[in-house]
Amino acid sequence: MTYHCAVLGNPIAHSQSPEIHARFAREHGIALDYTRILVEPGHFASIVRDFFARGGTGLNVTLPCKEEAFALATRHTPYAQTARAANTLWMADDELWADNTDGRGLVRALSHDHQYPLQGKRILLLGAGGAARGVVLPLCEAQPAVIHIANRTLDKAQAIVAEHAHIGVPLEALALDGLADRYDLIINATSAGLSGAALALPDSIHHEKTLAYDMVYGKDTPFLAWARARNLAAHDGHSMLVNQAYLSFCQWFQIDSESRP
Ligand code: ATR
Repeated sequence: MTYHCAVLGNPIAHSQSPEIHARFAREHGIALDYTRILVEPGHFASIVRDFFARGGTGLNVTLPCKEEAFALATRHTPYAQTARAANTLWMADDELWADNTDGRGLVRALSHDHQYPLQGKRILLLGAGGAARGVVLPLCEAQPAVIHIANRTLDKAQAIVAEHAHIGVPLEALALDGLADRYDLIINATSAGLSGAALALPDSIHHEKTLAYDMVYGKDTPFLAWARARNLAAHDGHSMLVNQAYLSFCQWFQIDSESRP
């Protein structure tokens, strides 16, 4: 039996998801047909309904449809709920389920691919937009010592901190120009690099073993250049891309995600 999955977004031609999922399918011996679907404005809901009515197994959702995917779903995992955005959809018991695997993908990329477990680490998260919001809950679950969220617009960082205050990990919101502490891990979740804009980061925020991670992939951002110029280990978001995809794949096919080396 061949299973059908797809990724929805606009633009979508650049998406690497079909190749990434084809590899997982080969590794797990699953016959998978995974396509890219371009979503014109106003067509998201009908495309999703039609896809599952035809027996589709699962959908990935990328920009700009993640909020719409969340809104369309009738059941949400806690990760989709806190992100208020979804990148993974499937049907179960006549309900449309939504998950957001971005944050767990990031944590898995750091701990598995980069051998960087987060427990006890001091983390600086740069940005407080959708990308940052989507990763805070899984970062907290990895039990770091602290997470500081720094954003150009301080109140957006404060809002994310307030929403996660009950989790028990010390969280603090900072203005981007108010950085003073030193961190083990600095994650760039701003979209500044996409336009080539540099963040004005002080040298006091890193030590020689600080890891720098940019959630943007396939682009040599000023943040990565900043880290490399200081001889820090620096990674772009490709490992997060692969791991969030794997967690979607595991959800659709009921695979234990820890079963893959
Ligand atoms: P995304 O979904 O990619 O997170 P977003 O919700 O538009 O996109 O958020 C973009 C993030 O990048 C925000 O944190 C934004 O800061 P503001 O909240 O102050 O707008 C940040 N960002 C974008 N360009 C930036 C720049 N040139 N300098 C600093 N922060 C920037």
